[in-house]
Parts: sequence; structure tokens; C-alpha cells
Amino acid sequence: MNIILLGPPGAGKGTQAKKIEDKFGIVQLSTGDMLRARVKSGDELGQKVKSIMDAGDLVPDEIMVKMIEDRIKEDDCKNGFILDGFPRTVAQAEELDEMLKRTGRTLDAVIEMKVDDDELVDRITGRFTCGDCGEGYHEEHKQPENFDAEHLTGECDKCGAVDSFKRREDDNEQTVRNRLSVYHKQTAPILPFYSDKGLLRSVDGMAKIDEVTRQINEALGASGPPTPKARAMGNRHE
Ligand code: AP5
Repeated sequence: MNIILLGPPGAGKGTQAKKIEDKFGIVQLSTGDMLRARVKSGDELGQKVKSIMDAGDLVPDEIMVKMIEDRIKEDDCKNGFILDGFPRTVAQAEELDEMLKRTGRTLDAVIEMKVDDDELVDRITGRFTCGDCGEGYHEEHKQPENFDAEHLTGECDKCGAVDSFKRREDDNEQTVRNRLSVYHKQTAPILPFYSDKGLLRSVDGMAKIDEVTRQINEALGASGPPTPKARAMGNRHE
């Protein structure tokens, strides 16, 4: 199964992609995570994109298309993938179509996560992750054990790391407002592109995390425990 999670910054794409990964045994491809890894490595591409990301603008299409094309050829994508953060422009969506044709793949669904802008600002400015395992948290909606909001300390529920929490550099209010404006101008025009293909399914991203998961599973025509394929891949399950 190959799917796209589409939605504004903070809509919950990363949160839900991890749940879909677990349930269906397919791999999450987050272009934001890939880019942040390149920035951290300090390589040439990382240096080039850092200021663009810090401002909340979009990295050029040709860089993103090449990054995804290389990634989906890797072995762990053979059972399917969840695109999280790609495509983000109509040009990227068109290139993805061509790429899928070339590799003999098809898209099964595009899930749109709908959330109000003010809620998104609250979610993103309150968000942080474990620096060791990457588990995501929120100051109000999802606190780790022994959480101290003032010093951003506590214990990761998933890996047990102590006081290793961090925030993303682009998670400040000014950048978030720009990321939202970029989403409405450059990414939302993708929605009719997929609607015309009969692939678009919308879910209420304002609902609680488990309810959003339920709506996504329903949209994907699945409910209940993980598939045997997901079990065989040794992924985590609820
Ligand atoms: P990227 O990393 O993709 O950021 P984004 O799209 O802005 O999305 P986020 O990761 O911020 O949010 P999310 O939807 O995953 O929400 P999350 O699950 O964390 O991109 C970063 C930058 O990279 C871009 O600005 C751009 O510069 C560049 N880039 C990336 N891809 C690109 C591309 N294709 N082309 C060009 N440039 C590209 O949830 C947010 C918070 O809310 C969490 O704390 C979570 O716990 C909480 N939460 C989630 N769901 C709920 C819920 N239902 N109720 C309450 N809280 C919730």
C-alpha cells in the first residue's frame, strides 16, 4: 500500500504516520526528517537548505523529487510507503506521478488532515521530541513521565532517556505562521489534483489522536489489529 498524508504543519502527519507504519508494516518517508538529517550532517545539501527551512519556506522541487525518488528505490519500501511532507507543490505531485509510473507503482489513497490554523500554532509551539528515540510529545496534550515544562526535562515513555528532550528550530510562532501561509498558497492546490483522481479522503485532524487514527483506518478500509504482514515485519503494535 502506498499512501500520502497531506495536511498543514502540525496537523499530525508524523504522529499518524508512525501508527500506520505499525499497523500496516509500511515505511514512513518524512521529507522533513530527511532534510533535518542532512542539516545535522552538515553536508553541502544540508548547508544549502538550512536557512530555507529555518524561514519556513519550501526547499526547491528538484531537490525534493530526487530525494524521494532515491528513497523509494530502497529495499524497505518494497511493501509500501507513507509519504509524510511530500508532495508539497503541484509540480512535486506531477513528478511523483511520473516517478510511480516509471517504477510500476500506484497510489492507494491520499489522506487530507483538516485542522484550524490557530490550533496548529498551539500544537507546534508546544511540541518537542526525545533526542534519543525521536518520540514526539506536547506540553499539554502528551506529556512524558516526570515532565517539567519550564526546563523541558523528564523521562521518555518510549526509550527511558532522561532529560534529552529538544525542540525543532523552526517551531517558533513567526516561522509557523509563514509555514501555514506557504501551505495555503503552495500545498493546498494539490488537493483538487488528487480529488480529480478519486484518491482524496479527508479526516478531522481536530479530533483526539486515537479518533483521527480510527478515521484514517476507516478511510484505508482497515480496522482491528495489525495485519499479518505488519507482524511478520516485526514492527510495534497496539
Ligand atoms: P516537515 O518536517 O514536513 O514539517 P511540517 O509539514 O511543517 O509538519 P510537522 O512535522 O511540523 O507537523 P506534523 O503534521 O507532522 O505534526 P505532528 O504529528 O508532529 O517540514 C519542515 C520543513 O522542511 C518545511 O517547512 C520545508 O522547509 C521543508 N520541506 C519538507 N518537505 C518538503 C517538500 N516536500 N518540499 C519542499 N520543502 C520541504 O503533530 C504536531 C504536534 O501536535 C505534536 O506535538 C503532536 O503530539 C500533537 N498532535 C498531533 N495530533 C494531535 C491531535 N489529534 N490532537 C492534539 N494534538 C495532536
